[in-house]
Amino acid sequence: MSMEPMLYSYNDNSVLQATCQQIGNPMLEKMAAAYADQNSRDPKNVRIAEYGCSGGRNSYEPMETIIAALRKRTPDLHAECILEDLPSNPWSQVMEEYPRLTANFNGNVQVLCAGNSFYNQICADESLDLAYSYVAAHFLSDSKPLTSHVLMHEANAAERVEWETHAAKDWENFLLLRARELKKGGKIMISTMSRDDNGYSWKEFSHVFWNCAQRAGSLSKRELEALCIPACLRSEAELLAPLRPQSAAGDLFKVDSLDFLYSQVDGERDLDISVLAPLLRRRVEAVWGGMFLTQLAESQNGRKPEAVMKDVWDSFEDELSRDVTRGWLYMQCFYLQLTRK
Ligand SMILES: C[S@@+](CC[C@H](N)C(=O)[O-])C[C@H]1O[C@@H](n2cnc3c(N)ncnc32)[C@H](O)[C@@H]1O
Repeated sequence: MSMEPMLYSYNDNSVLQATCQQIGNPMLEKMAAAYADQNSRDPKNVRIAEYGCSGGRNSYEPMETIIAALRKRTPDLHAECILEDLPSNPWSQVMEEYPRLTANFNGNVQVLCAGNSFYNQICADESLDLAYSYVAAHFLSDSKPLTSHVLMHEANAAERVEWETHAAKDWENFLLLRARELKKGGKIMISTMSRDDNGYSWKEFSHVFWNCAQRAGSLSKRELEALCIPACLRSEAELLAPLRPQSAAGDLFKVDSLDFLYSQVDGERDLDISVLAPLLRRRVEAVWGGMFLTQLAESQNGRKPEAVMKDVWDSFEDELSRDVTRGWLYMQCFYLQLTRK
């Protein structure tokens, strides 16, 4: 089963993911400034890519941050921005966001959409100056069967082993592809959800969801087993493994920094539970819902996947409205900065 894009509702429910940028965008600003400083010939044109842009709502700020930092040094700089996501991404939504980006730079910014998995090469060899990816690189290229849970980290050991091997290969492959695309001296920041000995964000939600799905009379055993989230939230050791010295990716990238930090939406914890529970349901459904619909359609039980899943999401919301602390939504993320050697 290959990865599916977010639902159309993602843009309007992506405010939590946007909080990662409060931490990450100042890093992007410094990264762009460092790139400008090291580039003695002062390039007039730059190419910047984002991997996993979804509906584009959260693409505007980081792109603007990078371009503004470069323009401090080169005021008439032209930027070509590649916004990448899966072929079935809602590209019309991305292009609705596009005028917000060009308006601030007198039209000297062009946006190109690349509908191609980031497990393929997106840009030509050594053609990219700067790049970033927020809340996307934890998604895997495809998934193996996972019958004991929806998330690999909660599955039984026998199923987990195969997923861990696959996830490690995906991460190395992602890095090697980006190394091909970046110019020498080019820089990338990758940030997404991480895992440590205390767990990871959305972990408790995965249990709430799995319990609701198991309890729901609307799902057959086969449908239940078809549900999974093709994602790996990596630990520090897993992130750094392919970047060790004298390895394929380690020879191509210098690790500038790796930080692990938390973010959340300000004031959200103070909301009344009757407001919070439906809000959290919409947020989780916007990210996981599309994958589950596709998985149910592929399990071919002849029933409408939306109708089958509605019961599960209703009971998920019901569960949260009884005890919202079971699944508080925060982001526990890593911020990895690399320079192409
Ligand atoms: C949670 S959204 C993040 C969007 C945005 N970067 C943000 O921070 O809000 C994750 C995005 O990663 C995309 N994605 C997952 N696997 C992908 C792949 N193999 N290639 C390209 N995009 C992928 C999904 O389609 C989705 O749009």
